[in-house]
Amino acid sequence: MENSVLLIVSGGIAAVKCPQLIRNLVKKGITTRCILTRGGAQFVTPLSLAALSGEKVYEDLFSLTDESEMGHIELSRSADLVVVAPATAHILARMAAGLADDLASTALLATDKPVMVAPAMNVRMWEHPATRQNLQTLRDRGITIIGPEQGEMACGEFGLGRMSEPEDIAGTIEKFFKSGKRLDGKRALVTSGPTFEAIDPVRYIANRSSGKQGHAIAAALAGLGADTTLVSGPSNEPEPRGVSVIHVQSAREMLAACEGALPADIAVCAAAVSDWRSADAAPSKLKKNGSAPPPLELALNPDILATLSAAGNKRPALVVGFAAETNDLIEHATQKRLTKGCDWILANDVSADKGTFGGQDNTVHLISDQGVEDWPKMSKQAVADKLAERIADTLEGAQS
Ligand code: CTP
Repeated sequence: MENSVLLIVSGGIAAVKCPQLIRNLVKKGITTRCILTRGGAQFVTPLSLAALSGEKVYEDLFSLTDESEMGHIELSRSADLVVVAPATAHILARMAAGLADDLASTALLATDKPVMVAPAMNVRMWEHPATRQNLQTLRDRGITIIGPEQGEMACGEFGLGRMSEPEDIAGTIEKFFKSGKRLDGKRALVTSGPTFEAIDPVRYIANRSSGKQGHAIAAALAGLGADTTLVSGPSNEPEPRGVSVIHVQSAREMLAACEGALPADIAVCAAAVSDWRSADAAPSKLKKNGSAPPPLELALNPDILATLSAAGNKRPALVVGFAAETNDLIEHATQKRLTKGCDWILANDVSADKGTFGGQDNTVHLISDQGVEDWPKMSKQAVADKLAERIADTLEGAQS
């Protein structure tokens, strides 16, 4: 199938290089459909982009004819890759803030496809802390930044901020399409979020897990091409793109869903599974009747990580668990790896002052039969990407 790009041309002088970029892409057999922002249209005409791409150019969010031909949501997902070139400081800021006030920003918010941006701006704007922060936000979300380069600018100044040359941008796009995904053909199973264990139809036992880390891992594995199933307890995290999600409530439901998803090559248990459940969940709401609280007898839940690690010929080739600890992190996590029989444990400190549960960042230590590897503090997304790459290294090593 032909590869296709949705090219968003925003309003910088570098937009004049877009006709050349389109020519390069089309020559490489990449279908290119454009969105031209109002600013972009000050530098290039929709007619020139349409003539070179051989495709209709979209400009207006509220165009009835455009909407009837292709709704803006569909447009945002119709291509395999979304590229913003040139990406002005303004559109980068709008992307970072999640604004959707024109067709380009709406498409960027609605897309479920990978996104690349080729920034182009004056050197002072490039160096401004606001731009630095916006770029970091976009990078953390997995967006690829192409360039910019150093050079003379249209405004006469010299420095970083000039958009990469069209040939280089087209080369990066081609590489993206050509690079075989490292986990193509592999199946991955990821657990995420807390579990809810019913006490009665109203009350439940739960924990503070948000699902951020597990969902990010599922997204990263899918991003490397793995056919990924995410078994998630109740979580407010959006469903990661390209992942099959099974929603569960309790530990026992989570185990059944995981067993149903086997065989898999990779299992990552990131869920904070409740160790206990009410031994005898009441079928109707417990009433206060008198002053004595009802006795709450607990029963032990199945251990999903240990079960997957001992799944005989169905055992995934690589089983990874987490260890959520508040003290003696490495010691407890090392012990957990042995008692649960998994290959790796990612140990993280979940003490309240670390803000791990629900927070954006995580500091983990990878424990394997090779010892302990300390990873620096990074975003949960970055932990997920690094883990996915490490999993791919290991599976490739096992094959060779
Ligand atoms: N885990 C699991 N099923 C359970 C409990 C835990 O699959 N019933 C998995 C978690 O997903 C994680 C690992 O086991 O990958 C360790 O979880 P953690 O909560 O750190 O440890 P526990 O096994 O619950 O032990 P403890 O509460 O004593 O620390």
